[in-house]
Amino acid sequence: MTASAMVAEFDDVAGWTADAIERLGERYAIPAACRGSANPTALAWLAEACELKPGSVLLDVGAGVGGPAAWAAERFGVRPILLEPMPAACRAAARLFGLPVVTADGARIPLRAGSIDAAWCLGVLDTVRDKAAVLREIHRVLPPGAPLGLLVIVARDPRVPGPEGNLFPTRRALAGLLDAAGFEVVEQTDRPGDAPLSWTRRVERVAAAVAGRHRADRAHALAARQSETFTRLFASGQISVRLVHATRRPAGRPSERSAHGGPMSTPTGDEFEIEFEAEVEAELELAKASDPARVAAQPVSEWLFDPAEAEAEEVELRNLLGAAEELESGFRSWGHGPGEGA
Ligand SMILES: C[S@@+](CC[C@H](N)C(=O)[O-])C[C@H]1O[C@@H](n2cnc3c(N)ncnc32)[C@H](O)[C@@H]1O
Repeated sequence: MTASAMVAEFDDVAGWTADAIERLGERYAIPAACRGSANPTALAWLAEACELKPGSVLLDVGAGVGGPAAWAAERFGVRPILLEPMPAACRAAARLFGLPVVTADGARIPLRAGSIDAAWCLGVLDTVRDKAAVLREIHRVLPPGAPLGLLVIVARDPRVPGPEGNLFPTRRALAGLLDAAGFEVVEQTDRPGDAPLSWTRRVERVAAAVAGRHRADRAHALAARQSETFTRLFASGQISVRLVHATRRPAGRPSERSAHGGPMSTPTGDEFEIEFEAEVEAELELAKASDPARVAAQPVSEWLFDPAEAEAEEVELRNLLGAAEELESGFRSWGHGPGEGA
């Protein structure tokens, strides 16, 4: 990760954020130091899914300024270890929260195999070129069966032009990467929920304080441009947040994916039909959120996608959803529904 906009965002702005938090007060620290789209709703989903326990060691890979790890320590009593390659972000996290920070790359974690209890990696994979290497390292330091919580920004289309340095995986590619690294996906959601105003107001106050001092700085302009691109891509439905709870598969156990030859954990029978329907529904939600009519009203130079194509895709997805619903109800009426025996 060497793109200048990313260094600006994850190093320079990270340090300035810590300065602003110190000026404004401690209550601003956790919200403003969550810099990977995580909010309390998403963090609570991940913490509950991973069943974080007081005293257990949580490694946060790509921890940034440490907001999510500090939140987990405060709310769930875990003992976090932060791993982050950007020196200013590491210094900021240590200064703000006094947590142990390792300055290192996620693809070379300087910890012993099986030495932690749980891992998080939030908003990081889309900034990393070799995602498989980071996932393999997390797998190595977790014991078998231990939980991994991920927040990943996924793209509808692998060709979506990300902000500088970002390479968004599709949901399917992410599932493949996790499987290949030796993780079993337990549960995932594309609807993490919004942050409450009490949280967003504090984030905005800190951002305004940073802008007040550094607006004229090149690094600030670069980071602001990244953030604007993210906002437009989210608004157009081209990218979305996916939360994943996975567990480390014991060594030598084949993945259910490869055992069943399908894309998800149990792609046979009625579960396959339901899963397919849910996937189409999720795609349709994203297509609707992209609001092609609004995009069409903008100048062509502003378009992030062709609205005519998006409308055609929405129609196609509606047809597909109809077919998926029929497939599922047909499957149930043939006596294969849950509880009816196969
Ligand atoms: C969007 S920020 C998220 C920070 C933090 N996880 C959070 O949610 O607040 C992405 C972070 O990933 C870090 N990162 C990028 N490449 C990395 C790598 N190869 N290994 C570990 N962390 C990396 C960046 O330095 C940055 O702090």
